[in-house]
Amino acid sequence: MKVDVLLGLQWGDEGKGKVVDVLTPRYDVIARFQGGPNAGHTLEFEGEKYVLRSIPSGIFQGDKINIIGNGVVLDPALFKAEAEALEASGHPLKERLYISKKAHLILPTHRALDAAYEAAKGSGKVGTTGKGIGPTYTDKVNRTGVRVGDILHHFEEKYQAAKARHEAILRSLQYEYDITEAEKEWLSAVEYLKTFNLVDSEHEINRMLKNEKTVLCEGAQGTMLDVDFGSYPFVTSSNTVCAGACTGLGISPNKIGDVYGIMKAYCTRVGSGPFPTELFDETGKKLRDIGHEYGAVTGRERRCGWVDLVALKYAIMVNGVTQLILMKSDVLDTFDTIKACVAYKVNGEIIDYFPYDVTEGVEPVYVELPGWQTDLTKLTDENEFPEEFNAYLDFLEEELETPIKFVSVGPDRKQTIERYTEE
Ligand code: GDP
Ligand code: IMO
Ligand code: MG
Repeated sequence: MKVDVLLGLQWGDEGKGKVVDVLTPRYDVIARFQGGPNAGHTLEFEGEKYVLRSIPSGIFQGDKINIIGNGVVLDPALFKAEAEALEASGHPLKERLYISKKAHLILPTHRALDAAYEAAKGSGKVGTTGKGIGPTYTDKVNRTGVRVGDILHHFEEKYQAAKARHEAILRSLQYEYDITEAEKEWLSAVEYLKTFNLVDSEHEINRMLKNEKTVLCEGAQGTMLDVDFGSYPFVTSSNTVCAGACTGLGISPNKIGDVYGIMKAYCTRVGSGPFPTELFDETGKKLRDIGHEYGAVTGRERRCGWVDLVALKYAIMVNGVTQLILMKSDVLDTFDTIKACVAYKVNGEIIDYFPYDVTEGVEPVYVELPGWQTDLTKLTDENEFPEEFNAYLDFLEEELETPIKFVSVGPDRKQTIERYTEE
């Protein structure tokens, strides 16, 4: 069986959690392949709202298997809080969740290091989520990390060695911190973690594929935050692109089937870094207000701007996107006109590709399309779409050379319209 991958094409928060939840009934297994609790994936159904950080978004739909893959970094304390909250709200997960023994652990000192590095960068800071993501992946690549499987053997030794190393760095940075309480909570959460199915998830997933099971891989963050292809150095520390699903789960590239690229009808970004179509005016504020563009976990204000087709084409290219999923079009319902960036002007020259350096002097070139002035949130079928909205969809499909398979018109599970159903 093939594996489908669902990932963000912009700077994260495109609506991945919602769509994974919608698509879950079509799959047997949902698997996260990278990132960690820097993610905040929101799901809404039956009047309830949930935000998931480390647990895959397939956890709410029936008896599906959910996997936290080896490419993920896991903070036991945050995981425990998330899992207990789910259990308390009537969503048992122990039997349905597998966690890779090869996933790396985020230690309390990783979080302190994240804060220390950011403080040392001053105005050049990345604006991280402060969850210890960068330092944990650094240890992984440096071959000094502590993995989930380590909690079963010689854990104390490995933990203390890593902690001592981190403390030496924190001292050298003259960073003041106190992890006493956090460490207590973290160590008790490690015991809790031991009660879960800790597995070699690459074996599990390949066995499932052999047994004709279907798998959906859930990406976190977005392509423009990828450590290789994003707006470096203002990125996260993992490969958010499709290839990350192969290394983050142990799936061979020739098993990848459809690649669902999730995009908002406009664009947002949290934290520092270039954002060519960012709006600093009333329009930007209107997008933020109507779209409720505040971080799902941190509550941080998201920067807002028009949709950037140059960046999207780049994202579609590096991921091999086969189908697009368009989110939050309803946020544009009341706009008279809608802009889309189709090229950049750099030093007076018009370019239509995403350049090496987007930090300076990149000016967006826009086309303007008529708005639809219709409440999309109540629509349930694409036949009800207003003419101007259909024209907008046609324009995007033509520019991006990829079909838009789903249109999301609100945060609820039900507010999702599928297209091209007869194929
Ligand atoms: P993720 O990180 O990609 O899963 O996205 P987030 O959950 O961080 O942010 C997406 C936000 O948009 C959440 O608050 C969702 O409830 C909301 N949302 C998702 N799809 C739609 C949509 O089509 N319309 C509107 N208005 N909100 C949506
Ligand atoms: P989801 O999965 C939006 C951003 C941070 C910061 C940069 C690096 O919900 O889409 P990190 O803590 O990863 O070292 O921060 O990446 N960032 C996200 N932005 N959505 C996310 O996840 C993000 N995860 C990290 O704001 O700019
Ligand atoms: Mg999010």
